[in-house]
Amino acid sequence: MSGRFVSLEGGEGVGKSTQTARLAEALEARGLHVVVTREPGGSEGAEAIRGLLMQGEVTRWSPHAEALLFAAARADHVEKRIRPAIEAGHWVLCDRYIDSTRAYQGGQGIDDAAILALHGFGSKGLLPDRTLLLTLPEGAGADRALERDGGVADRFGARGPEFHAEVAAAFARIADAEGDRVRRVDARGTPEDVTQRLIDALADLLP
Ligand code: TYD
Repeated sequence: MSGRFVSLEGGEGVGKSTQTARLAEALEARGLHVVVTREPGGSEGAEAIRGLLMQGEVTRWSPHAEALLFAAARADHVEKRIRPAIEAGHWVLCDRYIDSTRAYQGGQGIDDAAILALHGFGSKGLLPDRTLLLTLPEGAGADRALERDGGVADRFGARGPEFHAEVAAAFARIADAEGDRVRRVDARGTPEDVTQRLIDALADLLP
């Protein structure tokens, strides 16, 4: 039996991490073996690269260097953790994946085709069976994220509202262009409501 690969995407503070954990519980309750992971990170090497990416000044890396670091982290994560788990028949839930690079690094002027070419080289172009894009009205997520992090933003959260609006627009373009893979899920309402919407958006993949 081959497993499934599902990524969760969205801007800052949409509740992805909470929902990834809740979704994992819901799938396990259906008897599935679930592996939860995240990016940047998810394997030993990729977690080391995460430290380089998340800490320091906003300007620490050029957009090109940053795109390469995300691609390198992902290559290690895919090879060491994601592919083996899928091949073992597990459901892999990944908190952020390639569409985050397309939205965030794309928002800093890196061409989508270049990002996908790097993904082809580093990770053999592995795409999720389904990508769940959590959406909130503009601005709502950034406030939630800052509150959660005690007013301290990381290198990406520290960028301005225009940057986050551009990220949201980029995610929306990907969802429009790749509707088979990417489903938008409204992140408003109770955690229970949102988890149910995520399950509904996976209905055709569930055994
Ligand atoms: P993280 O602390 O994991 O936060 P979040 O709760 O927002 O997922 O931070 C990951 C940050 O890295 C987030 O601001 C998005 C950014 N990022 C990219 O810019 N490109 C990428 O490819 C990925 C995976 C993340």
